Amino acid sequence: MTSPVPVAVFASGGGTNLQALLDYESEDAAYRIEVVVSDRPDAGALERARVAGRDAVVIPTKDRRPDEVANDTLACLRSAGIEMILLAGYLRLVPPDVVRAYPRRVLNIHPALLPAFGGKGMWGIRVHQAVLDAGAEVSGPSVHFVDEAYDTGSILAQWRVPVHPDDTAEALAASVLRVEHVLYPMVADRLARSLVEGIEFPRVHCQSEPVTELSDEELVRAIRASFQMGEPTA
Ligand code: GRF
Repeated sequence: MTSPVPVAVFASGGGTNLQALLDYESEDAAYRIEVVVSDRPDAGALERARVAGRDAVVIPTKDRRPDEVANDTLACLRSAGIEMILLAGYLRLVPPDVVRAYPRRVLNIHPALLPAFGGKGMWGIRVHQAVLDAGAEVSGPSVHFVDEAYDTGSILAQWRVPVHPDDTAEALAASVLRVEHVLYPMVADRLARSLVEGIEFPRVHCQSEPVTELSDEELVRAIRASFQMGEPTA
C-alpha cells in the first residue's frame, strides 16, 4: 500500500476527536497524523499528541496578525510535509494564506447540521443549546471543507441524531459527539484515499436512522455502509 497521507490536526480543547482520529489509524487508515497544532499551550489535545508520540506545536494567535500566524503555521506544516489538515475543536479562524495553500484539503467537524447553527461564536455547548431553543427534532455532526469564514465551506458528510424531548444541551452534545468519533475518521480516511488515488471525494448521504438506539458497533457499520453508497460528486 502507498504511504499514508501526512496530516496535521488543529485543536484548541480536550481533543476527543483527535483521539478518535489517532485510534482509527490502526484500521489501515490512508492518513497519518504527524503533528498537532494548538493556539493554547494547555490544550488537552497536545498531551494526547505527545502520548501518541506525535509532534505537539503551539502557535499562538491572540493579538497577532493573520499573516504572522499564517507564516508560523505554514513553516510548521511544510517542515512536517503535511498534505491535509483536520480541524478538531479548533476555535480560531484558519488564516486565509493557509486555507489557500491547502485547497480542498482542510476539513472541519461541526456538532450540528450546517448550514443551521453554525458561524462565529457557535461552538461548544452553545450550539446544542441553540438547537434545543429552536425546537429542532434532529441534530448531528457535519464534516465540511474549510474556507475563509466559519462553517461555510461545502459539506461532505452529515449524520442525523434525533433530539429527545427531555434532552439537555449536555446530553445532546454527548449523543452527537459519539457519532463525531465514528464519522470524522471515516471521512478523513476517504479524503486521504481520494488524494492518493486522484479521484473526487464521494458524497455521503444523510441518514435518518435513530442512531442513539444503535450500539457502537452498529453505528460503525451503518456509517461505513453509507460510504459505500456514496455517489461521486464529479
Ligand atoms: C466537537 O464537538 C467538534 O464538533 C467541535 O468541537 C468539539 C471538539 O471536541 N468542532 P473535542 O475537543 O474533540 O473533544
